[in-house]
Amino acid sequence: MIQLINPATRQPLENKEGFFADTAGNRFPLVRGVVRIVTESNYTDSFGFQWNKFQKTQIDRESKTLSLSKERFFAQTGWENEDLAGKNVLEVGSGAGRFSQIVLDHTKANLYSVDYSDAVTANYKNNGHHGDRFHLFQASVYEMPFPDNSFDKVFCFGVLQHTPDFKQSVKALIDKAKPGGEVAVDFYPVKGWWTKVHSKYIFRPLTRRMPHEKLLKRIERNAGWLMKLYSFFDKIGIGKIVNRFLPIVDIRGTLPPGLSKQELKEWVILDTFDMFSPEHDHPQKISTVKKWFEEFGMQVTFADYIIYGNNFSAATVKGIKQ
Ligand SMILES: C[S@@+](CC[C@H](N)C(=O)[O-])C[C@H]1O[C@@H](n2cnc3c(N)ncnc32)[C@H](O)[C@@H]1O
Repeated sequence: MIQLINPATRQPLENKEGFFADTAGNRFPLVRGVVRIVTESNYTDSFGFQWNKFQKTQIDRESKTLSLSKERFFAQTGWENEDLAGKNVLEVGSGAGRFSQIVLDHTKANLYSVDYSDAVTANYKNNGHHGDRFHLFQASVYEMPFPDNSFDKVFCFGVLQHTPDFKQSVKALIDKAKPGGEVAVDFYPVKGWWTKVHSKYIFRPLTRRMPHEKLLKRIERNAGWLMKLYSFFDKIGIGKIVNRFLPIVDIRGTLPPGLSKQELKEWVILDTFDMFSPEHDHPQKISTVKKWFEEFGMQVTFADYIIYGNNFSAATVKGIKQ
């Protein structure tokens, strides 16, 4: 077991049934099954809204055909399920818990997951039944309730670009790994000057300020014809050039094959909301993240694109803490 601490004072926390407290009397309540290290709303509110609306959409277990999260988790980490048995694994930015589900259903690891938003409520509904092996906290990567040098494995997928200070987030993850422990991250990559020549970065200054409900309604209303236009441009061979200017997620490049028509539309709406609503979206160069890993005492074992699920790729950096 990892000794929980109050991240502000570093004092140990004790389970008092219904809340956790340190010796000075600072309390952290258990709300809807989750220990809340932060309670106030913050810059991740769009994610709390999104993951509670689309609680089950991306969870492999909820689908007969889907295994994308499983393929991605094991391809990107390179970890074997047998090796994780009994290990303490930290997941940062767990969202609705698509990767929490993989660790809990397919390994015997003890999983500690944090997310800064109320997405933890959705994750608890999806994975709370795992009981003692699953420890879930609403907390920021910068103020996690664990001592440094605690975890055998740390992973953080789809999160770093959405934090205000990418480099400090990388440091915060590495701080929590044990010497000899492994850290794996993925993120939106900067591929060149054209990365930000994209509908996402053109419309975001407007869309990230819109009330979440209003933005979602607008996306729901327009998803149908935008999907048709996207397929049409693909069919006539100009999709690779023009589809990046359509205000819709990259269907071919990011969404799994084999979804029913209705599932596909749900994924499109979710991922389009996910691209337009977050407060922060700061892609990074793989070489820069590799350099930061080294600066924070990691031996880098991988810094490149990992291919998973046939033709998807994810910019990934991995290393071992020295
Ligand atoms: C795009 S979602 C990815 C969720 C999940 N990893 C997945 O792949 O489905 C990004 C998540 O990062 C969380 N997040 C953003 N900033 C964070 C921070 N400072 N600390 C912890 N989580 C954070 C958001 O609340 C959100 O749930």
